[in-house]
Amino acid sequence: MGRGFMVSIGEILKEKHTGTAVELRGWIYRTRSVGGKAFVVLRDATGTIQATISRDAVSPEAFGAARKALIESAVIVRGKVVADKRAPGGYEVRADDFKVVHFAEKFPIQEDLSEEFLLDVRHLWVRSQRMTTIFRIRHTAFGAVHEYFRSQGFWEVSPPMITPAGSEGGATLFELDYFGRKAYLTQSWQLYAEALDLAMEKIYYVGPSFRAEKSRTTRHLTEYWHAEMEQAWVGMDEVIKHAEGVISHACQRVAEERADDVLAIGRTPEFLKAVKPPFDHLTYDEALKVLRTKGIELEWGKDLRTLEERALTEGTSKPIVVTHYPRVSQAFYKARDPKDPDRVLGFDVIAGDGVGEIVGGSERETDLETIKRALVEQAEDPKAYEWYLDSRRYGSVQHAGFGMGMERLIQWICKLEHIRDAVPFPRTPARISP
Ligand code: 4AD
Ligand code: MG
Repeated sequence: MGRGFMVSIGEILKEKHTGTAVELRGWIYRTRSVGGKAFVVLRDATGTIQATISRDAVSPEAFGAARKALIESAVIVRGKVVADKRAPGGYEVRADDFKVVHFAEKFPIQEDLSEEFLLDVRHLWVRSQRMTTIFRIRHTAFGAVHEYFRSQGFWEVSPPMITPAGSEGGATLFELDYFGRKAYLTQSWQLYAEALDLAMEKIYYVGPSFRAEKSRTTRHLTEYWHAEMEQAWVGMDEVIKHAEGVISHACQRVAEERADDVLAIGRTPEFLKAVKPPFDHLTYDEALKVLRTKGIELEWGKDLRTLEERALTEGTSKPIVVTHYPRVSQAFYKARDPKDPDRVLGFDVIAGDGVGEIVGGSERETDLETIKRALVEQAEDPKAYEWYLDSRRYGSVQHAGFGMGMERLIQWICKLEHIRDAVPFPRTPARISP
């Protein structure tokens, strides 16, 4: 096979190569033969395009291979790019050579398969247009989170994943045997963030968190990617601004750089562009009042559930911020509201379309004795937190931070029904394979 001018399908679709001879490498996405012609739709990482292989334009071997090759066969096509209104995407490649690198066996994924089956063959389903569209949006969203925090003067630091104690409650801790001792997979960088914050002042991290979350919902994974930030010398209001800022920045970048993918997945770039600060803010008590007007009665002190989060975000396109949650059932490190010790200076950012909480954060309690009491109240052993409590012994200062679930953010940006599609190989209580 001659050396053609190697291009990606995406480049062709951007009208860069009309009339030129090109070489494409990819996989067969769809194929059919009619008379002396094989119509092979190719995919690569950048898109799909139709190649027409005519019996009278290629060698007999090449034509035979084009007719025989099943979908997902790996191929190299050489030919000329022509603009053709009838072709999907507006362009096609008229082949003068066609080579099969690997003849695929009959691909197990056909039309109309159950969700369960697609999860069983996830390692193959990741090749689908739907999945790769989401992966590209995910790529852009991750880049935007790093870009935002770095541009705001935050240092990226790396906390451990194997830890001796949790920070978000024992019920969701994954335990592991660490050479005969008990250890846990991290739920959050929380304790390490508060130690590092007294060294670096403005810090962030994007990495995995683990929750032994038995509830089977459309927004819980057992392994998810967590974007977390912590900042010294500031309170809750300052970090809420960063939560709004980073969500907005991710939406802007995805709208600018992935407009076609956004449309393909069912959002519009305009919807994302409108996600600009400030978001609507309301206190937990105000939220209860709003809920009452919608016929939903929630007992004071109970956490907002999916039902309430849905009702609060009904008809809004930007996420909302709920602040000042009741102290009961909140993590021990959250700062009490000095104006009202029954409430914490804690907040959630809640998104619409059934996704709910995408960010949880707070100002942190700085008083040593108060934290110790909170640990005891929550049946934790303060001894396991001795090293962490040093952050309240040596130069304790006001500080605050938050964590954002990246899959929740992507679920919302892409308007996905289920969080599992926001990540290539989802981990849920029901499955750990493939
Ligand atoms: O609200 P959470 O539990 O807060 C913390 O872990 C804090 N220590 C974060 C901090 O202040 N640095 O979790 C933060 C976010 C949630 O708002 C949610 O978006 C996501 O993490 N999250 C999950 N995402 C997917 N699956 C799960 N099981 C999740 N649990 C939490
Ligand atoms: Mg939370």
